[in-house]
Amino acid sequence: MLTLTSTSEDFTLSLGGRLAQVLKPSMVVSLEGDLGCGKTVLSRGVARGLGITEAVTSPTFTVAQEYRCPNGGYFYHLDMYRIPDEEAAIAFGIDEFLFAKQAITLVEWPERIARLLQGDPRLRHIRFRHLALDQREISFIDWTDEECRLLRG
Ligand SMILES: Nc1ncnc2c1ncn2[C@@H]1O[C@H](COP(=O)(O)OP(=O)(O)OP(=O)(O)O)[C@@H](O)[C@H]1O
Ligand SMILES: [Mg+2]
Repeated sequence: MLTLTSTSEDFTLSLGGRLAQVLKPSMVVSLEGDLGCGKTVLSRGVARGLGITEAVTSPTFTVAQEYRCPNGGYFYHLDMYRIPDEEAAIAFGIDEFLFAKQAITLVEWPERIARLLQGDPRLRHIRFRHLALDQREISFIDWTDEECRLLRG
């Protein structure tokens, strides 16, 4: 486990850039933490690191945003905040976005679809904690030692 303290939005964006180098197609990352703790900022950093130049905005209302990576493959940014449970997620068509061979997927508010995610070896967890105005604790829960070394930068 790796725990970092981010002291600014820029720190979280650069961390997302390093995370992009660690992620492999078909991985799904669960981003857990309260409103405003930086899940979307980190996701934007990942998109930048993957070479995506489009604006990356919060998918709270669209639920899922699909981005094409310049090297081929996709980046899926999901936000389950407005999805009450697994049944609603399946009705939405969430299956298409989870563990897709050609895609890296980040999921905000993963608690809503816990039963669809649990147990898959391609799933990783990140937990955010709001410490102060510009400070966030970001913990990489189940990442390998090599992944943590790259994330530390
Ligand atoms: N260290 C930091 N890391 C990331 N964001 C920070 C930091 N310090 C301050 N902020 C601010 O906190 C906010 C984080 O917003 P963001 O949309 O990423 O949160 P979120 O976790 O996605 O929330 P939601 O659950 O509503 O989707 C932004 O306004 C950002 O500028
Ligand atoms: Mg968000």
